[in-house]
Amino acid sequence: MRLVLVGPPGAGKGTQAQFIAAQFAIPKISTGDIFRANVSQGTELGVTAKKYMEAGDLVPDEVTNAMVRERLKEDDAVDGFLLDGFPRNQPQAETLNEILDEFGHQLDVVLELVVDDEEVIRRLSGRRTCHTCGHIWHVDFDPPNHPGICDHCGGELFQRDDDRPETVRHRIDVYAEQTAPLIAYYAEAGILVGIDATGPVDDVTERAIAALHPYG
Ligand code: AP5
Ligand code: MG
Repeated sequence: MRLVLVGPPGAGKGTQAQFIAAQFAIPKISTGDIFRANVSQGTELGVTAKKYMEAGDLVPDEVTNAMVRERLKEDDAVDGFLLDGFPRNQPQAETLNEILDEFGHQLDVVLELVVDDEEVIRRLSGRRTCHTCGHIWHVDFDPPNHPGICDHCGGELFQRDDDRPETVRHRIDVYAEQTAPLIAYYAEAGILVGIDATGPVDDVTERAIAALHPYG
């Protein structure tokens, strides 16, 4: 399955991506995670991406597109993938089409996670991520057994720099202006499926897997 997850910041893309990717045995490719790994390693890509991410702006397309092109060439992505956080604007969507064309492939489905802005703000203000394994927690909605420590691997949890309230508001605006128009674009292409992404994490996972079943 060649799948794109789309939805506003905090919709639960990363949370659901871990379960969906495991269910359909496809690699999860998160542009945000790749950028964050580069920032923490201090690579040239990380140095470039950092200032945009801290401001809640999109990293320039030429940088992002080149990174995704390289990642999709890797062996594990040849037979399918889940993209989390890409494409995020029309030029990126066109680049994805070009890359897939080169391989003689096409996108099977775009899954939209639907949540409102108030829920997004509640979710992002309490998000904690594991430094070691990347698992995503929430202090109220999905808390680990011991605050600050990952249940899965014992790693230390951190709060993302771009989850400050003013940056969150800007990321929501960037999503509305640049990414949301892709929903109509993929609906027109006949490959958009939307699900209600509110309620318990497990319920959302069930809805996602049921919606994707015809494509898997
Ligand atoms: P990115 O990392 O992709 O961030 P985002 O799209 O803003 O999305 P988030 O990761 O914030 O939210 P999510 O939907 O994954 O939610 P999560 O599962 O964590 O991008 C970051 C930055 O990188 C961008 O701003 C940009 O600068 C750059 N970048 C990335 N891709 C780019 C691209 N293509 N082009 C240019 N720049 C790019 O869940 C959030 C919280 O909610 C968690 O605490 C979770 O536990 C909780 N939660 C999840 N589901 C539920 C539920 N059902 N009920 C209650 N709580 C829930
Ligand atoms: Mg995410």
